[in-house]
Amino acid sequence: MGHWVPLPIHLPTRKSPPEPAPTPLKTPPTLLALESSCDETAAAVFSAPHRLLSSEIASQVALHRPFGGVVPELASRNHLLALRPVIEAALAAAGTDLDEIDAFAATAGPGLASSLLMGNTAAKALALAKGKPFLSVNHMEGHLVSPFMGSGIEPHVALIVSGGHTLLIDVRRFGDYRRLGSTRDDAAGEAFDKVGKMLGLPYPGGPEVERRARDGDPARFALPRAMLDSGDFAFSFSGLKTAVLYTLEKLPSPLPGRDLADLCASFQAAVTDVLAAKAAAALRSSGRELLALSGGVACNRALRTALAAACSGVGARFLAVAPEHSTDNAAMIARAAAEKFARGESSPLEGDVDPNLAVA
Ligand SMILES: Nc1ncnc2c1ncn2[C@@H]1O[C@H](COP(=O)(O)OP(=O)(O)OP(=O)(O)O)[C@@H](O)[C@H]1O
Ligand SMILES: [Mg+2]
Repeated sequence: MGHWVPLPIHLPTRKSPPEPAPTPLKTPPTLLALESSCDETAAAVFSAPHRLLSSEIASQVALHRPFGGVVPELASRNHLLALRPVIEAALAAAGTDLDEIDAFAATAGPGLASSLLMGNTAAKALALAKGKPFLSVNHMEGHLVSPFMGSGIEPHVALIVSGGHTLLIDVRRFGDYRRLGSTRDDAAGEAFDKVGKMLGLPYPGGPEVERRARDGDPARFALPRAMLDSGDFAFSFSGLKTAVLYTLEKLPSPLPGRDLADLCASFQAAVTDVLAAKAAAALRSSGRELLALSGGVACNRALRTALAAACSGVGARFLAVAPEHSTDNAAMIARAAAEKFARGESSPLEGDVDPNLAVA
């Protein structure tokens, strides 16, 4: 047997198995939303599905106070000045920058056309410059989702009470709404503001009326509860406003502090009684087990107490928006935009603002 010489065997050179490619960390999408529908310039950074990273608001209330209401021309000019610093503050507070933003959103309506255009155009310009989607959001849908800032949106009855709206909506899910009722004339917040003005209180009247009402007797003046027994979910607050005026005319002028407190408390009770009764009826008729309250008037503690009691009376839960997200803010716009983004929606850059946009 000869000497066995192993044949050189050329094994295919075995490469070491490739390192598994590092799976990119799946960071949740981050959105920047702007709100400029009326007299607040606001920006928020939001991490989908429901984590608010920052919310900045530049209020123009002091600017408009001498005029007793919002002056549209002044509002739009000041949005222009405030937008950049507010956006920068929101990004800094969230610890991020424009390059990290996956989508840009802005309110498209309802609101003042010249004010809406400011935030809307800024968000579109950022989306275009960064090559990211733009999302147009209905301001009222922002209010509607605001109680669900840090959680998923459940089926519920929404009560939106703001400066321009009083709405009861049956919400099956995000985007699926059935309007149950709304105001036939003044919105609840508008009634607070008009009564505040009548009583010589500073603008906006809502918080001022509530402050005076705290020491007042809500049963002192018998004021009307309009449409309480109308059998539907409609509201009317203009008759109440007139009743306050007639009551005021019979009282001494200048109005003594006790009378002012009692009149504020009596007016507030008339508003909250009707809102609570109709909300309870809406829960009963829709079969929903949750009432979610939003809009600026949601700050009112007497209203929150009345609605909590009304809900427990019909075996429903009560969820109120956080006070900092009740008046206009961009966090609620971002919350609604996050829902749209999750569905793969985006809005055309050539889409217009709509001062009269309806939600349901
Ligand atoms: N504590 C309070 N009690 C009663 N009303 C209040 C209180 N705080 C704020 N409001 C009212 O809330 C309203 C502002 O709310 P919000 O900013 O949601 O309205 P808006 O944006 O002007 O109207 P909309 O959202 O319908 O366009 C004002 O009418 C204000 O008086
Ligand atoms: Mg609003």
